[in-house]
Amino acid sequence: MCLQDLTEVGWGCLGGGRKASLAERIREVQRLRKKGNLPPVYPNGWFAVLQSRELAKGQVKSVQVFGQTLAVFRGDDGVAHVTDAYCPHIGANMAVGGVVKGDCLECPFHGWRFRGSDGKCVDIPYSNKGG
Ligand code: FES
Repeated sequence: MCLQDLTEVGWGCLGGGRKASLAERIREVQRLRKKGNLPPVYPNGWFAVLQSRELAKGQVKSVQVFGQTLAVFRGDDGVAHVTDAYCPHIGANMAVGGVVKGDCLECPFHGWRFRGSDGKCVDIPYSNKGG
């Protein structure tokens, strides 16, 4: 992969951005390659994961893309959201048994609730800290 390729797929910011010299950018890419920390081979951009008509209000679906399992859900307000399917608590798959509550997705294991717009945990049952 060369720097031109990285720019074309949306990773032009690697190596210090456009202001960095070519040598600096090459060194940065080499450093990232050594660490095994290069960006994925697919372009950085927007990808359709479902047709909108395939997702009703209050519905959750599991989608596999780019080696990731995602939970796609549509809130009661009609807005569709995508999040990592695996709950950060202890890893339940929220795309299987997760429940839409308002604009949030509630984990089927312990009821932690995650807001669709930003992914924040907004409710933990039996906790007064609120997530
Ligand atoms: S695993 Fe999701 S709330 Fe516990």
